[in-house]
Amino acid sequence: MASARGEFTSRFGFVMAAAGSAVGLGNIWGFPTQAASNGGAAFLIIYLALAFLLAYPALMAELILGRHAHANAVNALRKISPGPLFRRIGVSTGIAGFIVASLILSFYAIVAGWMIAFCLASLSALLGMDEASTWLTSFSFTRNVIFMLLFMGLTIGIISEGVRGGIERWSERLMPALLVTLVLLVVYVLTLDGAMEGLKVYLLPDFERALSPNLIISALGAAFFSLSLGVGTMLIYGSYVSDKENLPVLGGMVTLVDISIAVLAGFLVLPAMYVALHQGVEIFTATGELISEDTLIFTVLPQLFSTMGFTGIIVGFTFFFLMSIAALTSSISMLEVPVAYTIEEHGISRKRAVWVIGGVIAVVSTVILLNFAELFGLVIAATTRYSQPILGFMFCIYAGWVIDRNALLQELKKGNPGIEQGLFWKIWPWYVKVVCPLIILAIFAQTLFG
Ligand code: PFF
Repeated sequence: MASARGEFTSRFGFVMAAAGSAVGLGNIWGFPTQAASNGGAAFLIIYLALAFLLAYPALMAELILGRHAHANAVNALRKISPGPLFRRIGVSTGIAGFIVASLILSFYAIVAGWMIAFCLASLSALLGMDEASTWLTSFSFTRNVIFMLLFMGLTIGIISEGVRGGIERWSERLMPALLVTLVLLVVYVLTLDGAMEGLKVYLLPDFERALSPNLIISALGAAFFSLSLGVGTMLIYGSYVSDKENLPVLGGMVTLVDISIAVLAGFLVLPAMYVALHQGVEIFTATGELISEDTLIFTVLPQLFSTMGFTGIIVGFTFFFLMSIAALTSSISMLEVPVAYTIEEHGISRKRAVWVIGGVIAVVSTVILLNFAELFGLVIAATTRYSQPILGFMFCIYAGWVIDRNALLQELKKGNPGIEQGLFWKIWPWYVKVVCPLIILAIFAQTLFG
């Protein structure tokens, strides 16, 4: 049955696809800029702690539920529920995940469209087409819609090819390209004047800024967003993993790749900011705060590239190309959530499901663009700050309390006969049951009453 639904053909394919989902704008843009404004290494430490102590165990909950049920999130939670009440809550959780994944994609496609536009702007500058370059880098409804549609088209094209021919094949190509591009950029930027100052800000912790409750909530949202948790993406990717594979190891690899790319991106973005400062580009506001995250990416860095002449055009192109790839490997995993559900639940063909759902999401993106000031920030906050941790909490509850304990332990033994001797076996089953939900609740209580 599993192979009829599609299955990753190799361990490498799965790790690239799941890491591709995890590594995205959140790593290369979100993490470094948040670290820059929130105490540098102190933020890094909190982020790493949350990633290992909370996000990895929560990721394992999704992967294990998915592989156990070999189904999308709605069906998986329904299948493992012992009675009608849990079944109903499970189905609602799965459907909420499907809606949240679609909403995340609706704003993600807008931002990813900007990345493609900026990438093409560098090309136009190279060809001496200055007018085109100016249009591509200025904020207009037409530009935003065109590039959002282009990005959605790419996402739809890949997802319509299925798990092996689409998700796995493209992740295996794009992820190595992403890593090489990122490393080249880091090496280059570190040779420029001013880079060392950025490194200092990144690596010297300022705990006063990092220990505020608000910031810890942001770091929680960032960790969940970064590992693509709480929407059912990882559950679905887990459902495409063969029973022969050792899931705790695969999940560990995905977490490591995700964290490493975020940390590496910090070595690019923070030094680049201080190189820009060195070149006379302002990176602080009048009150001494760091300028906003979007100004940094779309104004400061392009200004920096423009001070570097021809090399700057190449570096600018490479940087936005990197961002576009990172966005694409993530967006395909978002679209797979509603698509897998629709195919499995309603029996319609993959191609039709992809086009209809992709089309609806593009319409939602257009509505956001039409009401940009009101909706853009709201959709981001509602999905990433609140919905992802809440749904992640629900997945932990289902993996810790609802699924039959024997079934869970049997699932853990698959592909890993010696697991009973290891630490994961001793810790994770109670950890996901008690510790993960408690940490999420504690952080949430801070938001509500702190
Ligand atoms: N993990 C992606 C990032 O860091 O940019 C974002 C993401 C992908 C969120 C897939 C949710 C998702 F389902």
